[in-house]
Amino acid sequence: MTKHNQILKDKHILVGIGGGIAAYKVCEVISTLFKSQAQVKVILTQAAREFITPLTVATLSRHRAYVDEDFWESKHQKPLHIALGEWADVFLLAPLTANTLGKLAMGLADNLLTNTVLASTCPILVAPAMNTDMWQQLSVQRNWQYLWEDKRYHSVGPGSGLLACDRVGKGRMAEPDEILVNLQSLLYSGGKRDLLGKKVLISGGGTREHMDPVRFIGNPSTGKMGIGLAQAAKYRGANVTFIQACIAPELLTSIGNIQIISVVSAQQMQSAMLENFAEADLIIMSAAVGDFKPATYTEKKLPKSSIPSVFPLESTPDIVAELSRVKQPHQYLIGFAAQTGDLLTPAKEKLQRKGLDAILANPVDQPMAGFGSDTNRAILLDKNGREQKIETCSKLELAHHLLDFVLSI
Ligand code: C5P
Repeated sequence: MTKHNQILKDKHILVGIGGGIAAYKVCEVISTLFKSQAQVKVILTQAAREFITPLTVATLSRHRAYVDEDFWESKHQKPLHIALGEWADVFLLAPLTANTLGKLAMGLADNLLTNTVLASTCPILVAPAMNTDMWQQLSVQRNWQYLWEDKRYHSVGPGSGLLACDRVGKGRMAEPDEILVNLQSLLYSGGKRDLLGKKVLISGGGTREHMDPVRFIGNPSTGKMGIGLAQAAKYRGANVTFIQACIAPELLTSIGNIQIISVVSAQQMQSAMLENFAEADLIIMSAAVGDFKPATYTEKKLPKSSIPSVFPLESTPDIVAELSRVKQPHQYLIGFAAQTGDLLTPAKEKLQRKGLDAILANPVDQPMAGFGSDTNRAILLDKNGREQKIETCSKLELAHHLLDFVLSI
């Protein structure tokens, strides 16, 4: 996630770091934000400085770090907490400790970070991190609930896992990737949950058709577009099921907690899609599905000498075309068109031939778009003749544009 991130570019992101061991992970968030051309300013609480130094965050953000001593200095034109509060487009509090959570819930302000919270009006994303027993304390849970009375607050995590205190349980700060996805979605959508109560079925990745256990017909899809769609739909409140074909496991971890069904072949993807189709309100078929498979499959690896120079192929099922045949009126079906050359004509033809409600056509023969790229660009079309061009942006942003396109009708 670097250049051409239109959501983060030039945005003013204020990061408030609390005193928890997860502070070291926030350094990665700051570094990525800077590389994405965001403006980043960081406030450290006194306790945060026990874990990381002002020099660390100043170096990563290319901006001086703010600490409590600065709060009491008189050389600012405006009081520092006011100036920082007015500057921020969004405020990330990570790790949010039990102590700072308690202060925020009660409206207390006894350091630069909490004063800046009260002196700002931008949305706040909090990423709590603490030991499981601390997290489960009645007082902490009460404070956590209080926070939601204020619509400024949005949260990511905490997750479960091995904690720094050697306990396994809830209290682990969300991973940097998940924080970044939530931060971008918050900046893009203002935190709206317009898919709340909706079931969204998404396919992503690229299918493989094996001729033996080690040889297959495949395609270069990495699944990044499907992951962006799953992240955006989940953020907007949907209950997401993601059918993934051959996506690298380390990419899948950035989706967070949703139902993932893993398949390899077009046939398996067809079964998984059909099994989950009836319940879905919105279906997005972004997977690159192979059109052909070897006519035969051998259980054991074929010796090189017995592979024929010409071998027969069979067609795979056209999944999205079949889904459109069984689709109910309340269901909305979106397909993808990965094109070389002209985008519009073949996309219009596929929209009609496959009976889709909408299609996203993206180029796969140009830089910064298509397979494997972190960015993409597209033309969105629907069956009513609407057409929208989306310039190069991150795949997460394109996913949000597609959801806006669909939800605006
Ligand atoms: O015809 P083409 O493969 O370009 O169509 C792309 C769209 O059709 C995508 O939405 C893709 O997921 C879907 N598709 C499918 N089953 C296939 C081939 C493509 O559902 N066998």
